[in-house]
Amino acid sequence: MARYAQSSINEVSRRNSLSELVSGYVRLKRNGTSYVGLCPFHKEKTPSFHVDEEKQLFYCFGCGAGGNIFDFVMRAENLDFVDALQFLAQRAGVTLVEEQGGSRADREEESQKRKRILEMNRLAARHFYENLSKPGAEAALSYMQRRGLSKRTAIKFGVGFAPEAWDDMLAYLQAEGYTPEEIVTAGLAVRNEKGRVYDKFRNRLMFPIIDVRGNVIAFGGRTLGDDQAKYMNSPETPVFHKGRHLFSLNLAKQSGMKEGLILVEGYMDVISLYQAGICNAVAGLGTALTEDQARLLKRYASQVYVCYDSDEAGQKAAQKAIALLTEAENTVKVISYKGAKDPDEYIQKKGVESFRALLAESKESLEYQLLRLRQQYDLYDAAQKISFLTEAAKILAEVDSEVAREVYIKRLSAETDISSEAIKTEISKLIYYKNKKETRKEMYAQNTPEKLSADFSAGSRQQATATYKTERMLLNLIFYHRRAFEIASSTVKPEWFTSDIHEKLFSAIAAYREREEEVSAPEFLTTLSDEVLRQAAVSILYQDFSGETVQAVKEAAEKLETAYLKKRAGQLVGEGKVKEANEILQRIKGRRG
Ligand code: UTP
Ligand code: MN
Repeated sequence: MARYAQSSINEVSRRNSLSELVSGYVRLKRNGTSYVGLCPFHKEKTPSFHVDEEKQLFYCFGCGAGGNIFDFVMRAENLDFVDALQFLAQRAGVTLVEEQGGSRADREEESQKRKRILEMNRLAARHFYENLSKPGAEAALSYMQRRGLSKRTAIKFGVGFAPEAWDDMLAYLQAEGYTPEEIVTAGLAVRNEKGRVYDKFRNRLMFPIIDVRGNVIAFGGRTLGDDQAKYMNSPETPVFHKGRHLFSLNLAKQSGMKEGLILVEGYMDVISLYQAGICNAVAGLGTALTEDQARLLKRYASQVYVCYDSDEAGQKAAQKAIALLTEAENTVKVISYKGAKDPDEYIQKKGVESFRALLAESKESLEYQLLRLRQQYDLYDAAQKISFLTEAAKILAEVDSEVAREVYIKRLSAETDISSEAIKTEISKLIYYKNKKETRKEMYAQNTPEKLSADFSAGSRQQATATYKTERMLLNLIFYHRRAFEIASSTVKPEWFTSDIHEKLFSAIAAYREREEEVSAPEFLTTLSDEVLRQAAVSILYQDFSGETVQAVKEAAEKLETAYLKKRAGQLVGEGKVKEANEILQRIKGRRG
C-alpha cells in the first residue's frame, strides 16, 4: 500500500469542499454555517446529520457517525483510506506525493510484497496465455471452440491454459526469480502437509481477474477434465479479497455502462455477452453477492440488471442479491428468461437480439418479487391465498413510494379478489410497526452521548456528566483558540482529565498545536490512527464554543483541578492518609475563598 506524505493529504483535504461532496449523496438544507440532512449511514425520518462547512467536519447526532471528508468517502463509498484519498485527489486535481524516508520499514515491505505479487500475476497471465500455443493445448483449444469462444474474445479477456502438470507455473516463476514461498503467497501454488509445493491450477482454462486499475489480482480456472471443483479461484491474497471485486468490471467500465450493469453468475456468462456485443456484464467471484459488491455496483452504475441462472438455485441466489442490492440503494431490475440454463446458453441458443429484448422487458425488482411469490401459492385455495397476501404485504411495506404501492395494491386486489382496502389496512399495520421500531431505535441512538459520558467518567453520574462536559469544552477551546491553548498548556495537567480518552486527546492536541501554525480539524483527524480517539475527537471538535471567553478557559481548568483534587483526597482517605487529604481539601477551600 502506498504511503502518502501528510502534506499531500492536507492539500487534498483543503482542496475539496465537504458540503459540496456530501450534497452528492444527501439533500442538505442550510442552517447558518452548517448544513442538515437525513443521515446516509443510518435510517431516520428526522434529520440529525450535520455538516459544518467552516470546520469541514460532519457529524450525525443520531448514530454518532462523523469525521472529515476522507471518513465520509470511506463510509459512503466503502473504500479504504488510500482509495478514498486517491478518489478525492483526482476529484480536486491534486497530484499525490509518496512519503520519503525509510522510517516505515514494515509498510515499505508490505508494499513491496504486493508489488511482487502483482508482477507475478501479470507474468502468470502471460504464461497461461502462451501455453495455448504450445503442444498439449489441443484439448483446451477444442474446448474453447466447442463453447464458441472466438480468438478475439479470448485475447480480450486474457484467457489462458494451465496444463496437467505439477510444476509448470512453479518452474516458470522460479526461473523469473521468485521463491516458492512467494508463489504460494500469490496463490499460484500450494504447499501440502508434507511441505511439497506444486501448481494450484492444473488442467484448467484460466480467466485472469483484473481490477478497475488494470492489475491482474487473481485467477479463476475452469476444469477441462472431470475435476470435482468445476471452477477454482485464487485464494485470498494480499492483493485479492474476493468479496470486493467483480469479474470484468474493468471492461464494463471501459464500455461506458450507459445502460447500467448486468449482474450474472458466471465468468462464461460475462464472456459470451461480451462477445455478442453486450459489454456491461459483470459477475461475482465464486461467492454469493456481498455487501461490498453491492456498494461497488452502486458506485459504478445507475441501474443494475440481475440476470442469474434460471434454475431454482439461481433464482434463490437472485432473491438474495436483489435484497442486498436494494439495501445498498441500487435501482434493480430483473431479467427473466426460459429455455436456457444461463445467459451464456441463452445467447448461444437464441442470439443477442433476443437477449436485448429480454433486457428491454426486464421488470422492476418489486414486480418480479411479487410474480415469483405468486408462483409459489395456489390462489384457489383460501388458506394459501391468505398466506400469499400476507407475504405480499410484507414486500410492499418495504416500498417507500406511495404511488408504487398503490399500483401494486390494485393489481393484487384484482388477482386475489380481495378488496384494495383490506390489503391496504394490512400493509399500513406493517408499516406502523416498522416505523415504531425505527423511532425507538433512533431515540436510543440519540441517548448515546450521555450514556457514553457516564461510562467514561468516574464519580457520581451527575457530577461525572458535568465534568465530562467541561473537559469536552476545554479540549474544543484549546484546539480552536491559540490563547486558550496557551493558558491551558501552562496550567492543565493531563492527569486531571477523568477519561483516558480525553487525556490522550489533550496530549495529541497539544502536540499538534506545538507543531502547526494553523490548525484544521479535518487535518488533525488524519493524524489520529486510533478509531475510538478519532470518534471522540469528531464529537468534540464538531461542537461550537466560539462564544466562550478566556475566562471560561480558566474556570474550566480550575473545575477540572478541583474535581481531580477531590478525587485524590478521597483516595488518600482510603489509604489512611487523612492528614494529606485534609491539606488538599484546605487548598480547594482556600482557592474558593
Ligand atoms: P456455474 O456452475 O453456473 O458455472 O457457476 P457456468 O458459468 O455455468 O460454468 P460453465 O458454463 O459450465 O463453464 C457460476 C459461477 O460460480 C462459480 C464461478 O465463478 C462460476 O463462474 N463457481 C462455480 C465456483 O467458484 N466453483 C464451482 O465449482 C462452480
Ligand atoms: Mn452457469
